[in-house]
Amino acid sequence: MEKGFTLWLTGLSGAGKSTLAQLAAVELKRRGYRVEVLDGDEVRTNLSKGLGYSKTDRDTNIRRMGYVCKLLARNGVVAIAAAISPYREVRDEVRRMHVRFVEAYVKCSLGALIERDAKGLYKKALAGEISGFTGISDPYEPPLNAEIVIETDCESPKASLVRLVTALEKLRYIERDGLP
Ligand code: ADX
Repeated sequence: MEKGFTLWLTGLSGAGKSTLAQLAAVELKRRGYRVEVLDGDEVRTNLSKGLGYSKTDRDTNIRRMGYVCKLLARNGVVAIAAAISPYREVRDEVRRMHVRFVEAYVKCSLGALIERDAKGLYKKALAGEISGFTGISDPYEPPLNAEIVIETDCESPKASLVRLVTALEKLRYIERDGLP
């Protein structure tokens, strides 16, 4: 059976986690892997509906996502999670639930995120219209030992994808190319 694993993308809002997750899903499917993406924004409209952004609620959201990823991964699927997941402890808890787990830190400077501000949320957070916004008025604890770090500041999504896929190959989570 194919070996499933979980690829966990953590990073600030707007850093490029969702974009990278989608691009990685397309590329891994092309290579013959079965893939499922769990995106924080989407999970919060169903599995985690009703949860907010307190530490408790965020941790609950991450535990739920981690649990589903675990189930998928142990059935041979590549589960890709994209969530801010700002707290190190719960990320490590999710890691411990897994046999095969890769953490990728999608890193981008706050300056670039504020400038980009695709959803207009940083502007609101800076104006005090959103309280407890990650990176502005709420903490983000960067991973200390992420297997992969992708800096999206000054590279295209396509370049980030190549970096990510190459790292997965080096870590031997996926075959170098072609079918698994
Ligand atoms: S997490 O902290 O629980 O991992 P998740 O990734 O699911 O967060 O959701 C983050 C998304 O929720 C952001 O991209 C943004 O669109 C939205 N959001 C709304 N309020 C906040 C907030 N206070 N902090 C961060 N993101 C927020």
